[in-house]
Amino acid sequence: MTDLYAVFGNPIGHSKSPDIHNAFAEQTGEDLFYKAILAPLDGFEDEVRRFVSHGGHGLNVTVPFKENAYRMADEITPRAQQAQAVNTLKKLDDGRLLADNTDGAGLVRDLTVNHSVSLAGKRILILGAGGAVRGVLQPLLEEKPAEIVIANRTASKAELLANDFAELGNVSASGFGDIEGSFGIIINGTSASLAGELPPVPESAVSHVTVCYDMMYSSKTTVFNAWAEKLGAARTIDGLGMLVEQAAEAFFVWRGVRPQTARVMKDLRSERRR
Ligand code: ATR
Repeated sequence: MTDLYAVFGNPIGHSKSPDIHNAFAEQTGEDLFYKAILAPLDGFEDEVRRFVSHGGHGLNVTVPFKENAYRMADEITPRAQQAQAVNTLKKLDDGRLLADNTDGAGLVRDLTVNHSVSLAGKRILILGAGGAVRGVLQPLLEEKPAEIVIANRTASKAELLANDFAELGNVSASGFGDIEGSFGIIINGTSASLAGELPPVPESAVSHVTVCYDMMYSSKTTVFNAWAEKLGAARTIDGLGMLVEQAAEAFFVWRGVRPQTARVMKDLRSERRR
């Protein structure tokens, strides 16, 4: 029987995950089918239990259920523990649920493998201090950057995050107005792009060697990346590669097989232009 997988969210209509995972299945010959499930806002856990008792082997979790998934897990990987959020659940052989977070691994792989951007020894500025940023800090720190500065509109949230990750590397917090010097890499992890807004980052943060990465993507250049291009950043990258790489990492967690991502990214890009 074909193994079932799904992404759970609310809303879920525009999720690319089914296309990505079904393409991975076809490419690797894994016998699975992946669909999108709209879970009720107050019924995520029941919906997941129903899914795994009816042939579901694993699932991805997106907004607004990442913390619900963390709470319902029986076992949690260290990286999901540190992120305090879960984007991947796997049904273990004994029926218990393992929770993982593949977002940070996806971001790091997109930067280092797909775009050949080394993080080691770099000054990295991260904008935002919400769940999206918490989810990627540990894998970023594992790359041994010289420093990570977390800047957020609400500075106290950046401070909390910096404290939580202080043991893993050189992390500090800042308000946008207090950002000093330029950075090798700037990662936008705020949800400002969703509203077409720009975090108030000083222009001096960007130099001609800065790589700017927006964790969001859309059919047009994001406001953040357009700003960075105007300032002469070395490169701008959007979050499409991160999306595909976090999916590939989840596929690997479930199936023990790592799919190739280049083709899937290319197809999504050309679909976006249509
Ligand atoms: P997510 O799970 O996407 O991280 P979140 O936890 O709601 O969502 O966090 C959103 C992040 O985007 C926060 O860091 C938020 O800043 P505050 O903590 O000050 O609210 C940031 N953000 C949202 N809109 C923004 C804007 N217009 N300018 C700057 N930062 C913004």
